[in-house]
Amino acid sequence: MKKILITGGAGFIGSHVVRLFLAKYPNYEIVNLDKLTYAGNLENLKDVENNPNYRFVKGDIVDEGFVNELFNSNQFDGVVHLAAESHVDRSISNPTEFIKTNVMGTINLLNAARSSWGDDFDNKVFYHISTDEVYGSLGKEGFFVEETPYDPRSPYSSSKASSDHLVRAYFHTYGMPVKISNCSNNYGSHQFPEKLIPLMINNIQHNKPLPVYGEGLNIRDWLWVEDHARAIDVIYHSGELGETYNIGGNNEWTNIDLVKLLCKTMDNKLGRNEGESEKLITYVTDRAGHDMRYAIDASKIKRELGWEPSITFEEGLDNTVGWYLKNSDWLNNVTSGDYQNYYKKQYQD
Ligand code: NAD
Ligand code: DAU
Repeated sequence: MKKILITGGAGFIGSHVVRLFLAKYPNYEIVNLDKLTYAGNLENLKDVENNPNYRFVKGDIVDEGFVNELFNSNQFDGVVHLAAESHVDRSISNPTEFIKTNVMGTINLLNAARSSWGDDFDNKVFYHISTDEVYGSLGKEGFFVEETPYDPRSPYSSSKASSDHLVRAYFHTYGMPVKISNCSNNYGSHQFPEKLIPLMINNIQHNKPLPVYGEGLNIRDWLWVEDHARAIDVIYHSGELGETYNIGGNNEWTNIDLVKLLCKTMDNKLGRNEGESEKLITYVTDRAGHDMRYAIDASKIKRELGWEPSITFEEGLDNTVGWYLKNSDWLNNVTSGDYQNYYKKQYQD
């Protein structure tokens, strides 16, 4: 058996990675370390919680003593590090929390892995999951490649950039067996409804205003979360140590076009008249420092590791909307309590 630590496994992307690894590798013991912040939810892993190869540990990666103890009492063969504060708007209102988790949490994991592995890095992997936002904001032309200089512009992306630099520094300085990937915007089931797609689905369903920032012309490159999990699997097992891989959907949308597509899909699914949900669109104050465009050149991972997205955006979106409509309990659970306060503050609703 190999023992793999997945951090942030109760979150959106992490839960898909945990599920994929358990299904694909019956000789792996998967330890999911998660603090269960507002974004972490054990409901996301209900279907695997009784798998004998799965263990959940509740804990905070910022707590150095706890992280060291976890590595002392377990011999991990690998780490897939996803735990993070991940929402840009929250980083604008509370940057410090992002530095604690994303920067201090990452260095605690690096130190604990290094000390537990000693000089024996054979067959070990420390895989850090990052974002395309570290590269900054594109104009109309061009794509982010692995060599694009870092230019983070929000507290969130700055904290992720900082953690990426630390991970690379541990490769160069100590020979740590690291890998990094930088992915574009994910969508799919189990995403917390503060992010654009699930927030819009939830609001359309409940006939609430659809808050589009600024003029809605910012562009994002959307990738189905299960395709991201497949890419993480390929990189973890076949990527080169010390290397960075960009992951993207080759699927750029302005926010307003995407929201209109969601409205159309929801009208169909909810049996509403065409154009009914679009009436909910409301332009609101723009996000501070709003990055204009993200677009990933994912040719390296395709060329070197044979990965590419497996489904079209239309299929993925249809599947995603279907999941949220079928799982209204999940949505109702996560939007009760604290979510209401967050929403009021963010949108002055
Ligand atoms: P998420 O917010 O849904 O989940 C984050 C998880 O980390 C939650 O389960 C949370 O409880 C846990 N966590 C937070 N702070 C913690 C701490 N101090 N200790 C332990 N656990 C903690 O995030 P996500 O969207 O699934 O993103 C996962 C990773 O992928 C992040 O590192 C993010 O930067 C990166 N990423 C996300 C996207 C995207 O579109 N969502 C794209 C590219 C990269
Ligand atoms: O690019 C990868 C990143 O994608 C990840 O690293 C982040 O963790 C993830 O949150 C995401 O960041 P974005 O800021 O791009 O995602 P978000 O869903 O918050 O917003 C997508 C776009 O939609 C962005 O241009 C802002 C806009 N938006 C968002 C919300 C929540 C709106 O217009 N209205 C909204 O209410």
